Amino acid sequence: MSSLSNKRILLGISGGIAAYKSADLVRRLKDRGAEVRVVMTTGAREFVQPLTFQALSSNPVYSDLLDPAAEAAMGHIELAKWADLVLIAPASAQVMAKLACGMADDLLTTLCLASEAPLALAPAMNQAMWRHPATAANAQTLHNRGAHLWGPAAGSQACGDVGPGRMLEPADLALQAEAMFGNNDCLRGKSVVITAGPTREALDPVRYLSNHSSGKMGFALAEAAQRAGAQVTLIAGPVNLNSPAHVKRVDVVDAREMRDAAERAADLCDIFISAAAVADFRPAALAEQKIKKREGHDESSIALVKNPDIVAGIAARTKRRPFTVGFAAETQQVEQYAQSKLKRKKLDMIVANDVSRTESGFNSDHNTVTVIDRSGSNTLPPALKTDLAKQLIEIIANKAQQ
Ligand code: PMT
Repeated sequence: MSSLSNKRILLGISGGIAAYKSADLVRRLKDRGAEVRVVMTTGAREFVQPLTFQALSSNPVYSDLLDPAAEAAMGHIELAKWADLVLIAPASAQVMAKLACGMADDLLTTLCLASEAPLALAPAMNQAMWRHPATAANAQTLHNRGAHLWGPAAGSQACGDVGPGRMLEPADLALQAEAMFGNNDCLRGKSVVITAGPTREALDPVRYLSNHSSGKMGFALAEAAQRAGAQVTLIAGPVNLNSPAHVKRVDVVDAREMRDAAERAADLCDIFISAAAVADFRPAALAEQKIKKREGHDESSIALVKNPDIVAGIAARTKRRPFTVGFAAETQQVEQYAQSKLKRKKLDMIVANDVSRTESGFNSDHNTVTVIDRSGSNTLPPALKTDLAKQLIEIIANKAQQ
């Protein structure tokens, strides 16, 4: 049964060419058992007739804040309270700006202010509008307030431009909604170990080698796994993040400490997820004192030795081997390199991310990932790491059961 079964979804449609796709979205949400009520802005009505949505949702379509007939049937406050989720698809730059400012000058924005339900936005606009600092700031404000941003996808646009700003496909939006409600029990009774963040490999008392991992992806996975019912141990490199609630956190600094903590925790776990960006190499020698510049020497070199491969060590176990998931951070040929890591490290699954992009991967709130196992690969729509984590946990829980 879908997690959308009997969920009440208030679908807001704002003005944009992608509004025609929302008709398909209504059908897909209803196919999964959701009840859907549609609110259209004046702009949206210029693109698609309300009658289309009335027929597909089997409910009247709401448009006007001050319509006495609509208010008598189901007033706007009642409608706001009715919703389990407010989903705006497409969400135009205009509606995002109004929501970021807390404006309530039409029915849709008023409902958003009056509703305590989670808010999800599927942005759709011209690529330059999406990239504009004003829109970026509005998106960030909404995200900081807890709104889910689903997409946008990149590609060719109705206006002829190419870039980010396409609304996610209805099937992907329905999947996101399904993942948001999720099967909260999918890891009940399971023990999960997750590594997160970078490692720091000391060179001398004041210097180290490291990378840009913030830990956000691993921490989001830990929170999602805990919410899915698992007992979670989070092994964290040096990061500036608060621990998710009810998660056991073990702080480590370098790769060998992370390996020791992982080996200990993995003895009792069902699933091991390696989201940490472990330094592949460390300085061959640790200087006891700060290394000094040498007069007349303009060049210097550092000898490095290989660090233990933590996830490969867990996957190579013959006893107490958990279902083992790695991540692959790649800057080119993402899927091919991830495939070869899956085989070489003998993992059950690998999550590939393209870390050459600035808007996802390292130290971003967003990511775009492809899940790969022996049965094939599946690229998930770009999303917040917190939303992706819920989807990944569901996928991992399913695969680990097979
Ligand atoms: O932390 P964020 O800022 O949120 O960024 C998230 C992320 C980009 C770091 C994350 O999504 C990610 O991709 N993590 C893996 C980064 C990495 O080190 O990838 P890799 O391709 O070098 O390693 C492949 C796998 O082997 C990874 O699961 C890694 O944890 C593991 N590994 C690598 C080296 C090593 N010595 N031991 C390991 O266990």
